[in-house]
Amino acid sequence: RLYERSQLPLSGKKVVVTAGGTVERIDPVRYISNDSSGKMGFALAKAAHELGADVTLLAANTHLPLPAGIRVVHLESAQEMYDAVLAEWSVTDILVKAAAVADYRAKEVSDRKIKKSGETLTLELVKNIDILESLGKQKTKQLLIGFAAETNDLEKYAMDKLQRKNCDLLIANDVTREGAGFGTDTNLVNIYDTTGLIESLPLLSKEELGMRIMELAAARLPGAQE
Ligand code: CTP
Ligand code: CA
Repeated sequence: RLYERSQLPLSGKKVVVTAGGTVERIDPVRYISNDSSGKMGFALAKAAHELGADVTLLAANTHLPLPAGIRVVHLESAQEMYDAVLAEWSVTDILVKAAAVADYRAKEVSDRKIKKSGETLTLELVKNIDILESLGKQKTKQLLIGFAAETNDLEKYAMDKLQRKNCDLLIANDVTREGAGFGTDTNLVNIYDTTGLIESLPLLSKEELGMRIMELAAARLPGAQE
């Protein structure tokens, strides 16, 4: 879809996108993380920028070329991501939580390399804050967009997350399907709002999907036409 420059649907809006996968340190040379590449988040940030938004991209451990015109903040852990999101929160119009946040971190982070000893090693993990859920509770004007990657019972888990985290939109993919999920250049998603399934999209490039999601978000901002 083509827009007149003066009519870009996100002009004057602040969009914050989290991308990548958090890293939770165990010791100076080891960590817990996940397979998120950050591609979906980067595509969303680029789309928001093209639609006229002022975009901040909070990138957790990504190795992708930096998009032009977008402020990028690099960070590592879930706690750092939470602090970075909160710092932008009062001026945020749309928050997109595309990042894969580690659910747990090591209870003790060793400042020295842990030495090999017995036949087994038990690491104690403690739960990280759920960033999206916490922001869902503090929501005023912000539009919140969550993601869910599932291997089964997609609709049930997606709707459960949408409600529990007080999201306006939830983008869900079944990562067992070809072309969907972590590391790929394409994605295959269903989009839910509080009423249930609103779109079941075909296999799309992450770039194209990023644009569809940001257009959908723009149309749902307070005061949007249509
Ligand atoms: N999320 C978050 N903070 C966390 C965990 C998840 O903000 N500590 C966000 C993710 O960025 C994503 C959404 O919540 O937008 C769903 O993440 P997901 O891992 O699918 O949900 P969980 O609630 O952690 O449930 P589970 O891993 O058990 O499926
Ligand atoms: Ca999780």
